[in-house]
Amino acid sequence: MEATEQSQTPLQPAVLSLNNCPGTTPGTPQSKNQLKKQKKLAEFAELKKLRRERERQRKKQKRREAKEQGLPVRVGPSRKELKRRQVASAENGLATFSVAIDLDYDDLMQERDIAKCVKQCLRIYTINRRSAQPGRLHFTGIKRNGHIHECFKKNDGWENWNVEYHFDRTHADLFEKQKLVYLTCESDKLLDKVQPECTYVIGGLVDHNHFKGLCHSRATEAGLTTARLPLSEHVDMKTRAVLSTYHVFELLNKVAAGQDWTSAILETIPLRKGAKAKTTTNEQELDANSESETETQVDLKADS
Ligand SMILES: C[S@@+](CC[C@H](N)C(=O)[O-])C[C@H]1O[C@@H](n2cnc3c(N)ncnc32)[C@H](O)[C@@H]1O
Repeated sequence: MEATEQSQTPLQPAVLSLNNCPGTTPGTPQSKNQLKKQKKLAEFAELKKLRRERERQRKKQKRREAKEQGLPVRVGPSRKELKRRQVASAENGLATFSVAIDLDYDDLMQERDIAKCVKQCLRIYTINRRSAQPGRLHFTGIKRNGHIHECFKKNDGWENWNVEYHFDRTHADLFEKQKLVYLTCESDKLLDKVQPECTYVIGGLVDHNHFKGLCHSRATEAGLTTARLPLSEHVDMKTRAVLSTYHVFELLNKVAAGQDWTSAILETIPLRKGAKAKTTTNEQELDANSESETETQVDLKADS
């Protein structure tokens, strides 16, 4: 009798887990390829950490050597100083310009392009941090726990960047409509000056121009003022006038700091675009046409 009862009681495994707990269906084992990919990713993350550490040590060593030789240890301002400047200029309302990177394109980008987009955000943050005249920087329209948010989380210390992150809120929810200018290359208005009271919106979209004109149509549908950069007015280019998000930011940063458009454009845009300064004759033409252009230049006071 005892023996029969014992044989009917199912044997309990020594350790219970979600896979062997009575009443649960065992999970599907991961495929060989998935496991391989996971292993590779883990190895890559480890390597990245090692590389960073090596770089840190190399810089430390360089500083030590410079100190021993009585050479100046640092050429530019320290990280602390850069951050202090940025915070001070934002708090005192001294920022020469304000930019919102519109990251509300989460669902339109492939995983690879999401990574590129976030990398561009990191570059933008770095350009701004190192700038003698940093602007106010907003990252707007980030979907909480969306692809872009998840990708930001892969960057150590991203939450501490001196950037205003806005989750589930777009530029339209955050700023006065009259003070927003969405930069798009299809606009018929020309950006002439970078005005401190406006917020310039740049599309955070890496799409290899699959969605041609998308940022422009979204902006105009929302009733926003748009403006294009004065590229063809200052330089001749071999290729299209569509720039990447961080090149647009870099250009604005330079012009807001007082640099002229021509030199800022030539310094910023990639060589492959084959940009050359317009000849004097063209510049004279530009001057002659400037009266008719002023009508189409962005004048927010007139718009508001
Ligand atoms: C790579 S582009 C996006 C291209 C996208 N296919 C489109 O048509 O909107 C990224 C952003 O840079 C800005 N941009 C690029 N070139 C520009 C230009 N020539 N003038 C003004 N803004 C520009 C726009 O804000 C644009 O959304």
